Amino acid sequence: MPATRTRPKRAQSAPRKNAKAWGGRFREPTDPAVEQFTNSLAIDLRMATQDVRGSVAHVRALARARLLTPREAATIERGLGRVLREITECTFRPKPSDEDVHMAVERRLTELVGPVGGKLHTGRSRNDQVATDVRLLVRDQIDAVTAGIEALIGALVERAQRDLDVVMPGYTHLQRAQPVLLAHHWLAYVEMLLRDRDRMRDCRVRVNVLPLGSGALAGAGFNLDRRRVAADLGFDAISENSLDAVGDRDFVVEFLAAGAIVAMHLSRLGEEIVLWSSSEFAFIELPDAFATGSSMMPQKKNPDVAELVRGKTGRVYGALVALLTLLKGLPLTYNRDLQEDKPPALDAAETLQSSLNVLARMLPRIGIRAATMRDAAGGFALATELADHLVERGLPFRQAHEVAGNAVRWCLEQGRELESLTTKELATFSPLLGAAARRALTLESALARRRLAGGTARANVERRIATLAAQGFGAKSSRGGGAPKRRTASPRRGRKR
Ligand code: ARG
Repeated sequence: MPATRTRPKRAQSAPRKNAKAWGGRFREPTDPAVEQFTNSLAIDLRMATQDVRGSVAHVRALARARLLTPREAATIERGLGRVLREITECTFRPKPSDEDVHMAVERRLTELVGPVGGKLHTGRSRNDQVATDVRLLVRDQIDAVTAGIEALIGALVERAQRDLDVVMPGYTHLQRAQPVLLAHHWLAYVEMLLRDRDRMRDCRVRVNVLPLGSGALAGAGFNLDRRRVAADLGFDAISENSLDAVGDRDFVVEFLAAGAIVAMHLSRLGEEIVLWSSSEFAFIELPDAFATGSSMMPQKKNPDVAELVRGKTGRVYGALVALLTLLKGLPLTYNRDLQEDKPPALDAAETLQSSLNVLARMLPRIGIRAATMRDAAGGFALATELADHLVERGLPFRQAHEVAGNAVRWCLEQGRELESLTTKELATFSPLLGAAARRALTLESALARRRLAGGTARANVERRIATLAAQGFGAKSSRGGGAPKRRTASPRRGRKR
């Protein structure tokens, strides 16, 4: 029996059966269902800018390494610019074989500039390319979210400046607890958001590392100057391990974790706006431009903006959980699963930006019902004042608490308010109570006592506002007016071409 030789029937130049960029070793075309299932172009196109920026930096590195002539490099760079314009101007026509933005850009580039376009991918894999793109994308998202956080901080500081005279009940367990300044309440959100901004800045440091040069997984085989590429793209460092660089997305997780905390804070603010705008609280009046009506009940004015800010938090949490789940259990290094990193990152970033933006626009327009807030702040919310007053007269706090509690109970039984107790009535609860106790039972006295650092005393609140104003948040003078001055901390951005 003659030995059967399994040599290719046709020479290399024979027509391919699979027209993909990687089709060389394949015998049949991709099934249409697979083509659709694996395609990520619709999502990827949203990072076309980042992809082309990365490619331009790579082209320059190739030219420096003499893998491209200066002319070739210039041709490719110009072609990349044209492809990007087609994408941003929505004149780009995708082909079914355009698996993702990387393939689409290269395919179109080659159509535009000819075979020299095929040199772009020298020394690069889609694995280090996409890792680079996602880092550029997340970095842009961090900067946008940071700017949104700072704008909202500005709006809150400005509110605090305007609402310095408004007294409200502070709550624990959603029960009236002690009087506080509304400005102090707004500034509580400022503190949360300042930490949120710091978390964004902090994770940006770990995002801002260049993976390009890692190749598919083992490192590129050409002498490319990675530090120059990093500098070109505004990265502060280069990755130290090619396997890690193409295989991990922990930096996306960090961004989403920091984002989830932002969303949680916004959700709490949203919830308070919902509560405060209800007839039951009636603390605030929403501007008509930021409320919606009911299609059935003519009297309704609904706080949908605040509700949606609260509701959209679920999407951001979902994105975080999606990413954590995506990464769990992946063997090193790149796995196609990683393609699923982009939808959650894009959705969360967009959700955060829109929530931050709408809140910053709505806050300055909220009407405050100062009298209602003040009325709610008095009454039994002053019981602690009575106890503190007794402590100053030498009574141990536990006994003081008991005496004040008796006074509260008596008032409740008689249908009276604490503030209405006469000096004589006060004295029936303790010989230590007299005229001075009467004076202690006022909102002003309660607020003034809390001048320890961090407390709600007006002087403290004013000092904090001044510090924040000096950092560019809120209006310059401590009294209202003017838009928030500060935009973004403008962390170092990559140079745009
Ligand atoms: N679309 C892919 C992604 O987003 C690009 C990388 C594909 N790499 C590969 N070896 N198939 O992850």
